[in-house]
Amino acid sequence: MKSAIVLAAGKGTRMNSKLPKVLHKVCSKSMIEHIVDNLKECQVERIITVVGHGAKKIEEAMEGRCEFALQSPQLGSGHAVMCASALSNEKGKTLVVNGDCPCVQIETYEKMFEALEDCGAVVLTVSLNDPKAYGRIVRDDSGKVLRIVEYKDANEEERMIHEINTGIYCFDNELLFESLKELKNDNAQHEYYITDLIEILNRKNIAVKAVCSSDPGEVAGINDRIELAEANQWMQQKINRDWMKKGVTILDPNTTYIGKEVEIGQDCVIYPNCHLEGNTVIGENTVLLPNCFLVNAKIGHDCTIDNSRITDSEVKNECTVGPWAHLRMNCVVEDKNRIGNFVEFKKTKFGFDSRCAHLTYLGDSEIGSKVNIGCGVVTVNYDGLNKYKTVVKDNAFIGSNVNLIAPITVGENTVVAAGSTVNQDVEDGDMAIARNRQEVKKGFGAKYTSKRKK
Ligand code: UD1
Ligand code: CA
Repeated sequence: MKSAIVLAAGKGTRMNSKLPKVLHKVCSKSMIEHIVDNLKECQVERIITVVGHGAKKIEEAMEGRCEFALQSPQLGSGHAVMCASALSNEKGKTLVVNGDCPCVQIETYEKMFEALEDCGAVVLTVSLNDPKAYGRIVRDDSGKVLRIVEYKDANEEERMIHEINTGIYCFDNELLFESLKELKNDNAQHEYYITDLIEILNRKNIAVKAVCSSDPGEVAGINDRIELAEANQWMQQKINRDWMKKGVTILDPNTTYIGKEVEIGQDCVIYPNCHLEGNTVIGENTVLLPNCFLVNAKIGHDCTIDNSRITDSEVKNECTVGPWAHLRMNCVVEDKNRIGNFVEFKKTKFGFDSRCAHLTYLGDSEIGSKVNIGCGVVTVNYDGLNKYKTVVKDNAFIGSNVNLIAPITVGENTVVAAGSTVNQDVEDGDMAIARNRQEVKKGFGAKYTSKRKK
């Protein structure tokens, strides 16, 4: 059986945050979610997250997605593993993962499980030009891993070592829980270090192996906001490269931000400064012009979205949206629509092949197919207390600058004259006009403008 223990009880002091460290996001998904989701992808059956600082917030965020063990007080990473004692009677392989290491890829976890086939423990290492304050990997002349020494406990010579401990380990589960009993806290930080297990296993003549990563970015731990930004950048580049390999054109990968859960169809083109977050899905052949901000947006194929914000809403196929459109709260825009500039839709269904090209607000509305919404139409959906619904049926023509005071239904094949403020239903086939008749004062204009010229 494969299990995992995720260490997430530490304070994360250097983040300088009220939010527990592992809830900080990398590419719009929290560190702990990245780790737990990836572990699940490698068929890890039991995942125990060890929580302490901010335990409640982490448990709330991850409810139902893993098990939890409480570590209180926090006496070090080795002590944290002891707290996952719910696993102590299991057999099989157990990964131990620092919760602040969200970029580790599924293939790397799999390599760790494989490497454990013929030894008792595996540690993931990497060689760094600047090994900072990471724990150092001490090997003998034959290259055998002897122990890990923490930076604070290391001597001059050990600090010169460039190969460091990433904080990702794989153990034979029985060996792990047996050896934990031998941990001591006689070190610079008076903590129980999980890293001491390597030396303990060596003393028992149990083989320990290292898997060396070739990508420092993938295995970097996040301790402060600078490292958080670096991890974001690493993952952003990785996600962007993966989409490019799958046939998406990204004009500037440095300014394209695609969340981990996002899906993008073949031959889409993404211009700079687009942000795609949450469960956003984009169909094939769609173009995102600069500055689109899409959160949980579902966009069909052959659409063009220009400089717009779409949240929790769907735009079907062959539509153009924007520039500067804002669709939010469960809007559904059917096929072949044109939503133009400075248009806001809220909770609005917009039927097949309709138009809403300029300067409009539609809220709580249901618009039929082949409807034309003129420039500057406003649904007056709120009386300060309640929201009301506007229905516009198929083939209606709503003139420019119309106010539709809800609740109201405008029937099929109707016209609402430009400039009207309507508050009564319009029956199928009728025309509504609700504005003052124009008065003309003969010659007054010429008199007035000539005065202005003087
Ligand atoms: C740890 C390793 C170090 C390694 C580095 C990689 C130890 C002793 N050192 O150092 O060798 O190079 O990670 O990033 O493990 N935690 C708990 N409970 C505790 C203490 C820590 O759950 O009592 C958790 C933290 O939340 C964190 C992880 O363990 O996710 C590592 O702790 P941290 O304090 O960040 O250790 P480092 O100093 O980074
Ligand atoms: Ca750390």
